[in-house]
Amino acid sequence: MNVLFIGDIVGSVGRAAVKQVLPALKSKYNPHIIIVNGENAAAGRGITKNIVNELFECGVHGITMGNHTWDNKDIFDWIDDEPRIVRPANFAEGTPGQGMAIIKANGKQLAIINLQGRTFLPPIDCPFRKADELIEEAHETTKNILVDFHAEATSEKIAMGWHLAGHASVVVGTHTHVQTNDDTILPGGTAYLTDVGMTGPKDGVLGMERNAVLHRFMTQMPTRFVVDEGKWHLHGVSIQIDDATGETTKFQKIRLVEEDWLLM
Ligand SMILES: [Fe+2]
Ligand SMILES: [Fe+2]
Repeated sequence: MNVLFIGDIVGSVGRAAVKQVLPALKSKYNPHIIIVNGENAAAGRGITKNIVNELFECGVHGITMGNHTWDNKDIFDWIDDEPRIVRPANFAEGTPGQGMAIIKANGKQLAIINLQGRTFLPPIDCPFRKADELIEEAHETTKNILVDFHAEATSEKIAMGWHLAGHASVVVGTHTHVQTNDDTILPGGTAYLTDVGMTGPKDGVLGMERNAVLHRFMTQMPTRFVVDEGKWHLHGVSIQIDDATGETTKFQKIRLVEEDWLLM
């Protein structure tokens, strides 16, 4: 089975990039299942029901989230009724939504699990133990498992990759918005990349308008950040999984910029 995963979609620029490029990505990589991280899809903060629908309409099958999950309060009205979206599974017991979903499309099944790191992020339940618990649960249905580990520290993400080597098909990081260059297939067939990178405005700072960010760094004053409106870059990964074993057989990074993406 082929899976396409697209990193943190930031604001309307990021959403427009996905809509524009997805047809070409589909013909190049033939994904059976398309997953995106949507924690910044609504003006950089959270996601709305309208945006969820917009993403599903353009071909996305499942959405992962992160520390911005609750930024848009609209989500509390519908998250419990939307089985195709996952928020970090290691949020406190009883939190709305779910941390794992079985996505079915084009005759294939993929378990998606969202976890959040706790180094340089709020202290929450242990992502490693939660991962073990959910992978065991997923195995009752499928061996094909994608983990989106939404975390800040590269060390915590690499540790998670090794922790899940041979247990998940894919462990990819999100949250830092910058694609790393350490893509590998770990022993046991687990595709690993520390961070997939973002999809949205490329000339800001992680998707935000750069002058406001610079102002905060230089003055230490509270400054309101807004999503940048410039040209986009899109980052993702294409994964080929052997359905029978759940092991990844091919793993490729994707990086496109608005000015020359037609060259792909
Ligand atoms: Fe993000
Ligand atoms: Fe994040």
